[in-house]
Amino acid sequence: MSSKNDNKITDSENTQEISPKITDTKFLDQTLRPNSWDEYIGQKNIKENLKILLTAAKQRQHPPEHLLFYGPPGLGKTTLAHLIAHETRAQLKDTSGPAIEKVGDLASILTNLSPGDILFIDEIHRLNKAIEEVLYPAMESGVLDIIIGKGPSARTIQLELPAFTLIAATTRIAMLSAPLRSRFSGGVFKLDFYTEEEIGKIIERSSKILNVEIDGEAKEEIAKRSRSTPRTANYLLKRSRDLAQIREQKLTNDIVKESLEMLGIDNMGLNAVDRAMLNVIEDKFNGGPVGLNTLAASLSEEQSTIEDVYEPYLLQLGFIERTSRGRVVTDRARKHLSKK
Ligand SMILES: Nc1ncnc2c1ncn2[C@@H]1O[C@H](COP(=O)(O)OP(=O)(O)O)[C@@H](O)[C@H]1O
Ligand SMILES: [Mg+2]
Repeated sequence: MSSKNDNKITDSENTQEISPKITDTKFLDQTLRPNSWDEYIGQKNIKENLKILLTAAKQRQHPPEHLLFYGPPGLGKTTLAHLIAHETRAQLKDTSGPAIEKVGDLASILTNLSPGDILFIDEIHRLNKAIEEVLYPAMESGVLDIIIGKGPSARTIQLELPAFTLIAATTRIAMLSAPLRSRFSGGVFKLDFYTEEEIGKIIERSSKILNVEIDGEAKEEIAKRSRSTPRTANYLLKRSRDLAQIREQKLTNDIVKESLEMLGIDNMGLNAVDRAMLNVIEDKFNGGPVGLNTLAASLSEEQSTIEDVYEPYLLQLGFIERTSRGRVVTDRARKHLSKK
């Protein structure tokens, strides 16, 4: 039913990488993924809260309570889940909302957990209602309700599950039902965009791992254009590194600029779709307001992609605003576009 849609969501995670489709993100993500709290830059508040929660759970010799991370793609949700598993020496089982299609899928995942495991469910907003219902008792009381038989003779048996921690991630917190949200007893954490300084540190670390020499100016240039997003910063670093390597040059500011120009990324980190979105609102709809569905149709993009991938950063920049009647372009965005 939703296989087209599934692709779309996977795409949206990587949309900042622009077409043609880049397939090396998995690999890149793994080599550059922080493995300790010190390597995980920024998100100070979340880190402090998690450290207390994890230490307290350890003292009680009990798995930490369930955690939910939300925020735009590439800010470090998956990384946090893996980091927690690493730091608590727990085994992490990795799945996602779209992968759990039937109640039976979830039942089999849950019954295969070992005590102390972390179950990571990415894109949890894509779980359907029936599956959510099965998840509630599992999260709350560690039991799995199984219905045996059909009709009047049907009966429910309860299976005791091993103690586990659910860590979930979503780009769409608003799509999560209140009952599901409330079951994340360990906390619901919003990841913020990163400061330029934090992104700078991430680039420094990544360039060491990738073994590239990068000068200060080049680092700042990438940081400035990375949409305040670690994944994008790493991506831009890699693409600039490629150009430097082919040219047999050092990774300088000029190389960064040239490489980003070739990728269609402007001096604020906006890509072609971001600019098209602003231009459509401005030119076709007189600056707005324009509804999300109309906007999506004009851009030939999915509404969810616009909401998940493009809009958060444009909102953060103050380039668009959301009103009750739709999206509007701001003067700040107009200024930026007119400089082109
Ligand atoms: N706080 C951080 N410090 C250093 N690198 C980070 C941080 N957060 C994310 N990254 C880098 O960005 C990449 C994307 O992060 P990821 O956790 O996959 O994002 P999300 O799951 O939120 O989409 C990671 O592989 C990692 O290399
Ligand atoms: Mg992720």
